[in-house]
Amino acid sequence: MLAPLLLTLFAALTTSQFNRPPMLRFQCSQLVIDRLDPLVNPGLTPSPHLHQIVGGNSFRANMPPITHDLPSLSTCTSCSFSEDFSNYWTAVLYFRARNGTFKRVSQSPNEGLAGTAGITVYYIPDTRNTTSVTAFRPGFRMLVGDPLLTSPAEPRKVCHRCMPAKGDNAWLNCASPDSQFLPREMCVGGMRSVVTFPTCWDGVNLDSPDHRSHVVYAEGAGATDSGPTGKCPASHPVVIPQVMYEVIWNTHHFNDKSLWPEDGSQPFVWSTGDQHGYGQHGDYVFGWKNDTLQRAMDSRCDGNVCKELKSQSADAADACTVPRTVDEDVDEWLTELPGNRTIY
Ligand SMILES: *[C@@H]1O[C@H](CO)[C@@H](O)[C@H](O)[C@H]1NC(C)=O
Ligand SMILES: *[C@@H]1O[C@H](CO)[C@@H](O)[C@H](O)[C@H]1NC(C)=O
Ligand SMILES: *[C@@H]1O[C@H](CO)[C@@H](O)[C@H](O)[C@H]1NC(C)=O
Ligand SMILES: *[C@@H]1O[C@H](CO)[C@@H](O)[C@H](O)[C@H]1NC(C)=O
Repeated sequence: MLAPLLLTLFAALTTSQFNRPPMLRFQCSQLVIDRLDPLVNPGLTPSPHLHQIVGGNSFRANMPPITHDLPSLSTCTSCSFSEDFSNYWTAVLYFRARNGTFKRVSQSPNEGLAGTAGITVYYIPDTRNTTSVTAFRPGFRMLVGDPLLTSPAEPRKVCHRCMPAKGDNAWLNCASPDSQFLPREMCVGGMRSVVTFPTCWDGVNLDSPDHRSHVVYAEGAGATDSGPTGKCPASHPVVIPQVMYEVIWNTHHFNDKSLWPEDGSQPFVWSTGDQHGYGQHGDYVFGWKNDTLQRAMDSRCDGNVCKELKSQSADAADACTVPRTVDEDVDEWLTELPGNRTIY
């Protein structure tokens, strides 16, 4: 098995360079690509733009908090930890050819992980290893990023990185040379986007009208910090695990100057229609079975093996999919983005 070896290398590299704290880091393969958004547009089929979704197969257009109990309604998950029935989703990337047509950019699993496309999910306990974190309650959900953003946001929590041909390139997410805009050069190893969620919760609300304000980033946490560093404000005193996504986009399949725009701009657009890159976003609906996540956090599990948690093979995770709800073409050369999104 190659994967454990690579993971060890990953761990050795990042631990030595950054004194990396223990954290769950695991593959969730593609569950479905669909124009659904049960968090922002519950019940709406189709929702305005296309998403890639991973996690438990109870995913559907409408998932009301509490009554839609993800662990009991799911029969499988596309994540390697088989008790994680959460759903995670982001926008999808398209290549826009000179003739104006669009082709979806395929995805790969992250370094050291096996599976099909999808999202690498992290749960990071307190990096100082001094306090314990409080795992999410059933019904909890949250959103990072804003599809309508057209300029950089502070703090920097959604970023993009040009990947080298090989290697995880160890510098911190969102630190230079990562950018909030899509890379303007050709990336030899494809492009990685990262979405980092807040670490302080108000302790009361499972959601909020904007899906954001029940959680905040810690005071004094650096823009590039991973894990719950800094101090949670009195308004949001509960320290929660830091959820983080990484997504690998195979943009290098389009590294051909004759296909790129003649004016020197870059050719990729998010499924929202955003051609600059600020509109990537991540949605999270908690769905771990019982106290499994809390136990994994308390025992400071690291990587994608944890004695507190049950795991499944990459094949079993890949086999967990749901049929698409919205009947439309998303994978051929398309004359319009799904939902006929305006490019902005
Ligand atoms: C547009 O360009 C792409 C990339 O070169 C090509 O594969 C596709 O067939 C073209 N579509 C049309 C309608 O010309
Ligand atoms: C962190 O805490 C765990 C369990 O409480 C302990 O085993 C480990 O040695 C600690 N690590 C550091 C770097 O303090
Ligand atoms: C685990 O959670 C399920 C609902 O998701 C519940 O039915 C079951 O009773 C719980 N089991 C324990 C041991 O708490
Ligand atoms: C897509 O939107 C454009 C205007 O932005 C419109 O001209 C076109 O007819 C629309 N296409 C479809 C298939 O609805």
